[in-house]
Amino acid sequence: MNNHPVLRAPGFLYRDQELHCERVPLHELAAQFGTPLYVYSATTIRERFRAFRRAFGRARHTICYSVKANSNLAVLRLLQRLGAGFDVVSGGELARMLKVDRRAAEDVVFSGVGKTADEIAAGLRAGILMFNVESESELAVLARCAARARKKARVALRVNPHIETETHPYISTGLREHKFGVAIEQARTLYARIREENYLDPAGISVHIGSQITDMEPFRQAMLRVAELVRQLAADGHRIRYIDAGGGLGISYTGEDDFPARAQAYAQAVLAPLRGLKIHLLLEPGRALVGPAGALLTRVLYIKSNDHKRFVVVDAGMNDLVRPVLYAAYHEIVPVAHRDGVRRAEVDIVGPVCETGDFLARDRQMPMLSEGELLAVLDAGAYGMSLASNYNTRGRPAEVMVEGAKARLIRRRETAADMMRGERK
Ligand code: LLP
Repeated sequence: MNNHPVLRAPGFLYRDQELHCERVPLHELAAQFGTPLYVYSATTIRERFRAFRRAFGRARHTICYSVKANSNLAVLRLLQRLGAGFDVVSGGELARMLKVDRRAAEDVVFSGVGKTADEIAAGLRAGILMFNVESESELAVLARCAARARKKARVALRVNPHIETETHPYISTGLREHKFGVAIEQARTLYARIREENYLDPAGISVHIGSQITDMEPFRQAMLRVAELVRQLAADGHRIRYIDAGGGLGISYTGEDDFPARAQAYAQAVLAPLRGLKIHLLLEPGRALVGPAGALLTRVLYIKSNDHKRFVVVDAGMNDLVRPVLYAAYHEIVPVAHRDGVRRAEVDIVGPVCETGDFLARDRQMPMLSEGELLAVLDAGAYGMSLASNYNTRGRPAEVMVEGAKARLIRRRETAADMMRGERK
């Protein structure tokens, strides 16, 4: 058990021995909305966004929140009101942005290796800021779509800078063997091609080296390479106005997180190599803004033991939070009701899904738990709900946004009828 009375303030903290989200006791939310339940702290998202923005100070920039991290409309609206732009990777994510506010499209960048012609056309209609293009073939499709729409498309080629990152192999993206972007050596040839197209505007360069990166050096290295490319392109006669530095800033999944300091260090790493270049910087943070702002609330159903192990079976499974099995990710799990000095035991916290990989924690020291009690899985605000599935025909959790003493349901629990909609027998 965490001995600190305060966890991840201002979002999740113990008051009177009871874990709260801001001023709302979590057991009340569980009683009102059921479990499993995603709970988000609006104040935490707001404070993290502001700290990130402050870190970039007076540098001309737009923070394009990466929608894939958490795409609930209420999260998007909150960030949009704070002045965020957005990074989308599908027609579906673009549709979410248009639903939040049609004008939000002006600050949308569209990333992704496999955009279809229909998705590109939707982006052109919406008048988005930038297409981050990942291949020569995609350039050709974009040129055709833009000509048909008679709209000039701003293009940032996504270059692959061949940078090593110490993160899980599934979320590292900046090496030659990865499917993302075009090799940085190819960029000059491709920019010459872009310039020949009437409906393409070679406006920027984009880069994204991976996710959950906590060492700042790879970011700096990537920007050094990008800055060098911008100078080469200038010599070739292109005026690059935008650099998109991508996302990837990691968070601490073990608790101690001085986010303003971390954001400062990140901004330093990104900005220093760009000194002297007249560009508008785009940033695509996802996890860093919303990860620590969310928890997954789950109830203990059963406790059982065999000769080797003690299993705590909870009502949230890998379909609700897949990160532990997919990336061997660690999420801190704490009892909602705090108690001092209780005995601890090593347990596996597992879900109800019919898969051995259905666990939230393995070999974890936990205070003695009882059936029926509530647990909170922390730092689940990013890539939690957005990666949830209906496996085992389990409805996805409800989501609640807390602000101060108020809680608002921002997505109701999915029902069996929801899940069968669209099917025919
Ligand atoms: N921009 C691009 C082009 C991206 O591919 C990503 C994430 C981001 C921005 C945002 O990255 P962030 O700031 O959130 O690290 N599901 C995995 C993470 C996958 C990240 C995919 N791309 C996880 O749960 O760890």
